[in-house]
Amino acid sequence: MLKNKTIVLGVTGGIAVYKAADIVSRLKKLNANVEVVMTEGATEFVTPLTFQTLSNNVVHRKMFNEITNYDVEHISLAQKADLILIAPATANTIGKIANGIADNLLTTVVMASTAKVVFAPAMNTKMYQNPIVQSNIEKLKSLGYEFINPAKGKLACGDYGEGKMAEPVDIVDYVISSFKEKDLIGRKIVVTAGPTIEPLDPVRYMTNHSSGKMGYSIAKEALDRGAEVVLISGSTCLEPPKGVELVRVKTTEDMLNAVGKYFATCDVLIKSAAPVDYRPESVSSSKIKKNKDTDELTIKYVKNPDIAAHFGKFKKNQIMVGFAAETENLLQYAEAKLKEKNFDFIVANDVSKVGAGFNVDTNIISIIDNKGETTNYPIMDKAQVARIILDKVKKLLDYKG
Ligand code: PMT
Repeated sequence: MLKNKTIVLGVTGGIAVYKAADIVSRLKKLNANVEVVMTEGATEFVTPLTFQTLSNNVVHRKMFNEITNYDVEHISLAQKADLILIAPATANTIGKIANGIADNLLTTVVMASTAKVVFAPAMNTKMYQNPIVQSNIEKLKSLGYEFINPAKGKLACGDYGEGKMAEPVDIVDYVISSFKEKDLIGRKIVVTAGPTIEPLDPVRYMTNHSSGKMGYSIAKEALDRGAEVVLISGSTCLEPPKGVELVRVKTTEDMLNAVGKYFATCDVLIKSAAPVDYRPESVSSSKIKKNKDTDELTIKYVKNPDIAAHFGKFKKNQIMVGFAAETENLLQYAEAKLKEKNFDFIVANDVSKVGAGFNVDTNIISIIDNKGETTNYPIMDKAQVARIILDKVKKLLDYKG
């Protein structure tokens, strides 16, 4: 995902240095070239050898090394960098850069580079809230430097509050999204994700195996590409992407109402959720007891509204993308749904295949458009599937103008 990208990781002296090792390892797994620059303070916490081993590169530390080759180190790093990430960023380094001080290798590299610079601050709460630190941060933001806000939590010094460095997974997510083209700015995209549930009594319900992974990946990709994203989600255990408007729903009826609230003003509706098609005709207000006299329990189900079909009837300019979860006759059933529900295109997945459909990180899809054209794709991560879907959406948006 980050192939051919060089990330210069500035590591400054704070206890969160140990988390920077995790950042390097995650970036390497995404095929980035990582060049670590450590300040003297950072080396007090973790040795350069840790970063050298994880990055497979020599760690840069000193401004005035004996010359072994004639690349001037700070200039060559500054030019090589596609992005400079400073994590953890101390108050000291933030202050130096904000005030044009370049007295070590890291601050000099930043000064000499035109690459995007992202800070992930980590410090004691009082320090973080200090007006001098805050005004340095504001000054840097106004100059185009970016910040990944620290979280609230128990700090190494024992205090509780703001100042804990963002988690490596979120920092790396931020780096990934920095490289994505913002081609969906100004577009409002509604994504439905996860299962709905239909209660039978206060302790039981009917649902399906949807984890929400497919829909959350689409929401994340749309967000990274600059769209305003509303994520209408059934019950899942997933962390919603930071920055989406999250609407939690339980039943199919709730999901219908939630989509209704946003449909008129959206550009795109992507129906990746798996709404339950039938609900018990009545919901018992008390727990249904086991009946000693019979081995059977009969429940009458009634049809739920079909959300996609409902909005497909009166869509105007909106692009509607559907999914078809099938276990047989994949393309035939998917094509019928495409027409019935008036989708612009449908993503068909055979949920009986290993690596496809419910509750896995990958999917195997075929896309059928409303001209009847079908494209088959090999197994891939749901993040890649999301990219393909949004590339197609973008083409349709451009076409519609
Ligand atoms: O969540 P994951 O674990 O990542 O799994 C992903 C997925 C398998 C749920 C996803 O890839 C998928 O296939 N979603 C659609 C599931 C589904 O309900 O398929 P369907 O063939 O029953 O419905 C066709 C379309 O109509 C879907 O877009 C569905 O959202 C929509 N629908 C269905 C029923 C209903 N009452 N209202 C609807 O709008």
